[in-house]
Amino acid sequence: MGFLLSNYQLTICILFSLIFCFSSSSAHLCHNDESTALLQFKQSLSFNCSASRCNRDPSVPYDTDNWKEGTDCCAWDGVTCDNTTSHVIGLDLYCNCLYGTIHPNSSLFNLVHLQHLDLSCNNFTHSQILPSFGRFTNLTHLDLSESYLSGPIQSSEEVWQGNNFSNSIFHLQKLQVLWLYGNRELTGKLPNIINGTLRHLRHLRSLALSYIDFTGELPNSIGQLEYLEELYLYDCNLFGTIPTSLGNLKKLRMLSLGGNNLNNGQFPSSIGHLKNLEELYLQSCNFFGTIPTSLGNLKKLRILDLQGNNLINGQFPSSIGHLKNLEELYLESCNFFGTIPTSLGNLKKLRMLYLRGNNLINGQFPSSIGHLKNLEELYLSDCNFSGTIPRSLTNLTRLISLDLSYNNFEGPIPQFFPNFSQLQFIDFSNNQLTGPIPSSITGLPNLQYLYLGSNSINGTIPPSLFHLVNLTYLDLSSNNLSDTVELDTFAKIEYLNYLDLSNSGLSLTSTNSTPSSFRNIRTLRLSSCNICKIPEFLKTRTKLLEVLDLSNNHLNEEPNPLCNLHSLRYLNLSNNQFAGLIPTCLGNFNGNLTSLNLQRNNFHGTIPQTFGNASMLQELDISHNGLQGILPRSLANCTNLEILNLGHNFIEDAFPFWLENLPQLKVVVLRYNKFHGPIEQPRKRLAFTNLHIIDMSHNEFTGTLPSKYFESMHSMMMDDEDKSSLNYMGNDYGYYSVTIMNKGLEMEFVRIITILKAIDFSHNKFDGNIPISIGRLKALCVLNFSSNGLTGLIPVSLGDLTELESLDLSQNKLSGEIPQQLTSLTFLEVFDVSQNNLTGIIPRGQQFETFSNTSYEGNLGLCGFPLSKNCGNVQIAESPTLPSAFSHNFKFKFDGFGWEAVLMGYGCGVLLGLLIGSYIIRRKEEWLVRIFGVKMRQNGKRSKKVRKKIAHTKSIINCS
Ligand SMILES: *[C@@H]1O[C@H](CO)[C@@H](O)[C@H](O)[C@H]1NC(C)=O
Ligand SMILES: *[C@@H]1O[C@H](CO)[C@@H](O)[C@H](O)[C@H]1NC(C)=O
Ligand SMILES: *[C@@H]1O[C@H](CO)[C@@H](O)[C@H](O)[C@H]1NC(C)=O
Ligand SMILES: *[C@@H]1O[C@H](CO)[C@@H](O)[C@H](O)[C@H]1NC(C)=O
Repeated sequence: MGFLLSNYQLTICILFSLIFCFSSSSAHLCHNDESTALLQFKQSLSFNCSASRCNRDPSVPYDTDNWKEGTDCCAWDGVTCDNTTSHVIGLDLYCNCLYGTIHPNSSLFNLVHLQHLDLSCNNFTHSQILPSFGRFTNLTHLDLSESYLSGPIQSSEEVWQGNNFSNSIFHLQKLQVLWLYGNRELTGKLPNIINGTLRHLRHLRSLALSYIDFTGELPNSIGQLEYLEELYLYDCNLFGTIPTSLGNLKKLRMLSLGGNNLNNGQFPSSIGHLKNLEELYLQSCNFFGTIPTSLGNLKKLRILDLQGNNLINGQFPSSIGHLKNLEELYLESCNFFGTIPTSLGNLKKLRMLYLRGNNLINGQFPSSIGHLKNLEELYLSDCNFSGTIPRSLTNLTRLISLDLSYNNFEGPIPQFFPNFSQLQFIDFSNNQLTGPIPSSITGLPNLQYLYLGSNSINGTIPPSLFHLVNLTYLDLSSNNLSDTVELDTFAKIEYLNYLDLSNSGLSLTSTNSTPSSFRNIRTLRLSSCNICKIPEFLKTRTKLLEVLDLSNNHLNEEPNPLCNLHSLRYLNLSNNQFAGLIPTCLGNFNGNLTSLNLQRNNFHGTIPQTFGNASMLQELDISHNGLQGILPRSLANCTNLEILNLGHNFIEDAFPFWLENLPQLKVVVLRYNKFHGPIEQPRKRLAFTNLHIIDMSHNEFTGTLPSKYFESMHSMMMDDEDKSSLNYMGNDYGYYSVTIMNKGLEMEFVRIITILKAIDFSHNKFDGNIPISIGRLKALCVLNFSSNGLTGLIPVSLGDLTELESLDLSQNKLSGEIPQQLTSLTFLEVFDVSQNNLTGIIPRGQQFETFSNTSYEGNLGLCGFPLSKNCGNVQIAESPTLPSAFSHNFKFKFDGFGWEAVLMGYGCGVLLGLLIGSYIIRRKEEWLVRIFGVKMRQNGKRSKKVRKKIAHTKSIINCS
């Protein structure tokens, strides 16, 4: 044995010396000219890692670091030489932070022996794909993807017109791999490129042109690229149908056509001919109709991605059950309904199943999923499943991720955890689960993510939870737990990065915690946890903390200790009893603070002058405090500011016109302060252009309404928002919220829907006329000028505000008639002109049939319906069409669990109509919050009192 071994070692020694000899022999010394060309190429560029898309680890040296004059270039990183000729045949500088332009005379083009060239993921600052690339006649592999190239991709024909026929990438006859994807500024015509390819690149096996804008149809000629094995055309702005000739590409193993608007496309059945296909990506292609059964022919398919297609009449395609080699199946948001066929259980090799966001409305959980014994990732959120969490899941012992969130699962969390020793990710949030957290959870040693938020889980926290050493994300928020826990207990979970216990029902006490606790915490959300003291560890060291939410607690200290949290990006201290001055540190925390919410505390004094030096600030809410003095002008430095809420303080200042050119500003609330004086002309031509909501009510503004400002509020003029989906305002750390007063209804928008545009100037001392220019703000939903001293006529132009939902002009001195044009406001739900000097006939028709006497009270000169005073002999054109605010935008279906809106497009008129109407009876609140982000309060003041009372009782119980 010993002999054999040494013999063996000897052989290896000999081999090694042979290789050594060989490689150090002259055969591997690179040619001088090529060495020079490489060095010149390096020198012609600089290194800038922030300018490319790749995330390069800064500690890893560049390949070019060992490119030194006088050394053998064949030994340089990224360079490959031919073993016999020593010519440089390969250059691979993928993701090397190269930055600069490639010029036509670049020494790169002297490396004419190159067979393999990869310069992807650098930044060549809009260089063109030069004809000089045509000099690499032996090139088989060219990868220039994601490198900031621009200009045309020219086929040889096009270059020919430029009298330069031989120089073009389309003349590289040996090319097998051509990757140019992700160079968004490249242009070209896909038919020409395919033509060029067909002429000269007969051997092309892999073509990647994703993320290049070709704007056009996929040409029929594509079917002639018969050697093609891989074709990537993701997000190329293709439209039209997929040509049937695609089915001729018999060698195709990989096809990606996702992200194109192939919307007159039935699902292309020709794809069923591609018998060698292993990966098929057709996500977000706007397909509709049913999935053809021919898909079941693709027996070699391993990956199928159809997510985000509106296969609206789609039963779940049972043909998928024939794809026995399938390992990954992505069918998110495909609008499937009905049951999942049992044939799914045949996919024994399936490792990943994503069905998120399908309306499987009959809600049966498919037991066939329990047969997929190899499943590692199962994502079933938002599928309308109901019942208890099925036991059949117990068979899936290889699961790593299990997501059942946003369904209607009820009953207790099963004790099945011991089977899931591999599990790393659990998301059961947003269901109706009850019962305690099972203690068997300790059987999940690898668990990193545990999301149980928004359920009705009760009981106490099992001590075993604190033994999950690998846990990094823990969310128990919005549950019914009843336990008093020492916050420090959670610190036992050493790697905890994210902890959300908000509204969990837990009461947190805090003793003097050890300084080392929560060393890794980045997000800490402890809203409504009955906390009476700022936890000690926050005062000392938590360097990584980015998100801190201590809202709705009983903290009555000064927040100065928090000044140590240098990494904070989000700080919410709202609804506490913090007192004293606002610490200056909060104003200029560090460069990172993006959200600061101090709403509803007892802060007094002036707002620190440092405010606004933190120019990252996007959200600032200091409303409902006792703040005085003037606004710090430094706020004008907050160029990222989107929402500014100063309401309910004692701020005494003139109108802050100096905020007018903050480009992102969307919401400004000044209500209930002592702002005063006239609003003058805008200083800038473009003032408040992005504003969606401005509430200046209950101040002491005087003078005329600011007609010039109305002329520049572009965002209120255009409903440019995409109405096919609902978007909310917010930043990385959460949604913004705001409370809007609207005719006795105080609406708290826990999320602000972007189509909501509102102006409230009520309860001031404005006088003069209502400017005609108001009629240009066509996207307005809410307009309130009540309780001022406005005079003159109601402008006819108000009839142009066709989205208007609520119009309040009451308590002014307006005169003349109510313009007939207001009947064109078909979404108008609330209309109030009471207490003015209006005269004449109240218009009839449309929404005007729905308003009651109270809308007109206190105008002695008005007559006609609904007032009892009639107008004598005057003939009134009656058009008693009843309002149908919903019909053209919405269609409803009742699915047995709650109302579900099927969107055809939202208008803000629809929005408030829904809120005020009594159409939605079941699960109204929940649904409204989820879809529109709005909570209704019957009367602001009353509900505030109730809230305070609750807070007060709690504080007596816990903080004494
Ligand atoms: C790449 O460089 C161009 C030109 O300097 C620049 O416009 C672009 O933003 C850069 N890309 C990145 C990611 O920085
Ligand atoms: C060159 O030689 C090395 C080992 O000496 C070998 O691994 C490599 O495959 C050879 N390359 C070519 C293109 O012959
Ligand atoms: C291209 O390859 C062929 C065949 O391998 C060879 O004879 C020729 O010299 C190569 N051309 C260049 C420029 O390297
Ligand atoms: C493609 O090439 C053929 C000839 O090879 C020509 O007839 C046809 O017009 C070309 N199509 C386009 C779109 O250039």
